[in-house]
Amino acid sequence: MKALALVPGTTEVSLRDYPEPALETPTQVKMKILEVGICGTDREEVKGGRATPPSGKTHLVIGHEMLGIVTDTGPAVSGVAPGDYGVFSVRRGCGKCIACKNNRSDMCYTAEYKERGIKGLNGYETEYVVDEAQYFVKVPAAIRKIGVLTEPMSVAEKAIDEALQIQSARLPEVRKEEWLNGKTALVAGLGAIGLLASVALRLRGARVLGMDIVSEASGRPSILKQIGGEYVHGLQTNILDFDDKFGQIDFIFEAAGVAELGFNLIDALGINGIYVMTGLPHEKRAVNIGGGELMTQMVLKNQVVLGSVNASPRHFALAIADLERAMVQWGGTMERLITTRVPFTEFVNALDFRSDDDIKTVIQWNGD
Ligand code: BGC
Repeated sequence: MKALALVPGTTEVSLRDYPEPALETPTQVKMKILEVGICGTDREEVKGGRATPPSGKTHLVIGHEMLGIVTDTGPAVSGVAPGDYGVFSVRRGCGKCIACKNNRSDMCYTAEYKERGIKGLNGYETEYVVDEAQYFVKVPAAIRKIGVLTEPMSVAEKAIDEALQIQSARLPEVRKEEWLNGKTALVAGLGAIGLLASVALRLRGARVLGMDIVSEASGRPSILKQIGGEYVHGLQTNILDFDDKFGQIDFIFEAAGVAELGFNLIDALGINGIYVMTGLPHEKRAVNIGGGELMTQMVLKNQVVLGSVNASPRHFALAIADLERAMVQWGGTMERLITTRVPFTEFVNALDFRSDDDIKTVIQWNGD
C-alpha cells in the first residue's frame, strides 16, 4: 500500500510502498483510511522541522488527523465492528510516568511519549492502519462529513476543559460546566483550531470575539459570524484598547502561534481571567514584551496563563459530543470548515496549499 513518508529534518516527502498492516494481537482494530487532515504540525514537518522517524528507520509516515472505517477487529475487541467510522488518537504513553500509567499521556512527565505521524511512530497518511482498540474513538455516522475534525477538536476541548477545571477549583461561585455561559472569550487566530474552539465556546454560551488579520468579508470571519461570534480585525484593533472596547475578557484562547502576539494579549485579560496558549510558534526569535506591566497585571488581577497540548480520551469524547451538537445546530457551516479535499496522489498541492480562505485541507485515501 502507499503511504506519504518524510525523511525527518529534510523537505524530502514522497509516496512510498509499505506492507499493508494486519492484526497482530486480539485487542487490535484495523481501519481503512478515508481522509487525513493537514495541520501546522505537518507543514512544519515537511519544511524540515520537528519530526522523528520510528527507531532505526529513515522515513516517517506523516499525518495524525485521521478518519477511517473499521475493516477488522481482534476477537477480544468489543463495541467496535467493521463498518464503524472512527479515529485513532495520536499520542502513545511512555509507560513509565504516573500520567501515562493513568491513561493521560497528554500530560506525560518524561517527554518519552511517542506520537503517530510526529514523534517515533508512523502516522496515518496511508491506506490502512492497525492499532490497539484502547486508542480507537468511534465517530457517529451523523458526523461522517466532519469526522476528520475530531482530533483538532479534541485539542481545542482539552484547552477549554483545563480552563474550566482551574476556574472551578479557584473561584468559589463557579459551577464548572456553566462558567463560560455569558462570559466573554477572545479567540486569537481563526484557523481550524481557533474556529473549532469558537464552536465549543459558543455551544457553552460564551460571547466569542474571534481575532485574525484577514478581511472581514473572507471565509473564516464569515464562519465565525454564522456561529454567532464577532470578528475583531487584529490590525485595526489595539490590544491595549480591548477592555475599553469589549468589556471584561474572562477567557483567552490563543491559536495563532505568534509569540509576540501571544504574550502581548495577556494585556487584554480581565480580572480573575484565564488564558490558554495552544499555538507552536515557528519563529524562535526573542520578542519584546512589556514584561513588568504584564507581570504586575497578572498578580493584581489573579490571572492564570497556561499551555495545553494534545488530548485525553475524555477530550476526544467531548469533541465527538460537540461535533454532533454543532452539526445539528450549524450543519452547513460546520461542513465549510473543510475547504479542500485532495486525492493522495496530489499530496504536493495539499501540503503547499494555503490561502486566506483555507481552513482545513484533507488528503483523501479511500472512499467509504
Ligand atoms: C497535534 C497534537 C500533538 C501536538 C504536538 C499537534 O499538531 O494535534 O496531537 O500532541 O501537535 O506534537
